[in-house]
Amino acid sequence: MKIPPVKGTRDFYPQDMAVRNWIIDGWKKASIRNGFEEYDGPIFEYLDMYRIKSGDEIVQQLFSLTDRGGRELAIRPEITPTLARMVNQQINSLPKPIKWFSVPRLCRAERPQKGRLREFFQWNIDIIGVDDVLADAEVIFTTVDYLQSIGLTHRDVQVKISSRKLLAEGLRNIGVPEDKFNSLYILLDKHAKLSPETFKEELSKQTGDTSIVDKLIMLMRSTTILEACNILGLNPNADPAAQELAHLDDILQTMGVGQYCTLCPSIVRGLAYYTGIVFEVHELFGSLRAICGGGRFDNLLHDFGGPSIPATGMGMGDCVLEILLRERGLIPEAIMGRKLDYFVALADKTLTKEVYTVVAKLRSKGYSANFSYKPLSGLSKQLKEASEQNAKKCIIIGDEFKTGDIVIKDMTTGQQQTVNFEEFLASPKPSSQ
Ligand code: HAM
Repeated sequence: MKIPPVKGTRDFYPQDMAVRNWIIDGWKKASIRNGFEEYDGPIFEYLDMYRIKSGDEIVQQLFSLTDRGGRELAIRPEITPTLARMVNQQINSLPKPIKWFSVPRLCRAERPQKGRLREFFQWNIDIIGVDDVLADAEVIFTTVDYLQSIGLTHRDVQVKISSRKLLAEGLRNIGVPEDKFNSLYILLDKHAKLSPETFKEELSKQTGDTSIVDKLIMLMRSTTILEACNILGLNPNADPAAQELAHLDDILQTMGVGQYCTLCPSIVRGLAYYTGIVFEVHELFGSLRAICGGGRFDNLLHDFGGPSIPATGMGMGDCVLEILLRERGLIPEAIMGRKLDYFVALADKTLTKEVYTVVAKLRSKGYSANFSYKPLSGLSKQLKEASEQNAKKCIIIGDEFKTGDIVIKDMTTGQQQTVNFEEFLASPKPSSQ
């Protein structure tokens, strides 16, 4: 019986693994460059943790299980609740501000589609303990820093920024009851995926008021904060959330990433815990889903039984990013394939065991080295194997080895040199190898 892979999962063959590692390596480097420290948590948590604050949408997508002790658990669909739990646990001893990053493997029982799977990797960066829009700017700057480092320009991607605070103030102003906010956020977040008719119908169901429905439709079409304030009856020059957005925009310009950023009132975010600045990165032209999303979640630590501590951060999945990078031809060819410093080939049939000794010594010196499992097949077949394995150089064990010498063949230039093996081993290993 042939067993297929589970729907929405991926098998990582070596060439896929090379891309995954390259993406994750870039995330980690960008995090470290921007002053973040790495953390991780368990792959499953109590189901209730997600029920408390992630919002209905994510709870419906949980892979959950009951353990032998009858405890209800869920595989993590995101790491932000784990982060809040971990920080709360050691809140008094952790130096603040906390700037942490993580690259968890996550599972969501979503309908698999382009860029959305049931298992994926997600880069998270979060800053905890800073009640200043500067922290939101740092999160956005780090995100852009990574995108820039892999060759995505402001003509490829844009950070679209808005404010949940502004939206909440506006909703109150136009008469939406507070208990409707969370379900409205999920609906507004989905507006681009729904037909205009369905969106209007759903809005009517939730609010039951045509004037509110019309205003929310206009809001989702608005392109500036000024326009959004007018629709929601807010004064852009006095409203604190509008002022905060303007200040953030100013910092981002000063940091030199202004070209990548646009204030965009139709960004809402689906998760329930956001409280202030929210943002998503989208490709500028095209129909891919969001590349990343994040924002401020000032109440989450308190909601999880900790003190009131402000927090902000973002999560970027590997799926949409990889599709985009492939489309733009931005995945370097050089990351593919095995990386081998030396391939040790046998030229004298009496020296088979010496090949094993040489390979073992090379490896313990820190070089990557392989040899043929069929050394008696002849030198040319072994050299072919060496180039198939991307070996930079080939060490040939022939007659010279009887006096301690090896022949080193450069696989790119074809040049050969004879050197004493013990002297070669005693010399310092070049840093590029
Ligand atoms: P999120 O919007 O649910 O936010 O996910 C953030 C990103 O994760 C998405 O933009 C996408 O790149 C990726 N993603 C989400 N679901 C899937 C999926 N099914 N398949 C592939 N990629 C996916 C969060 O998770 C927040 N916890 C982020 C955050 C961190 N906010 C503050 N700190």
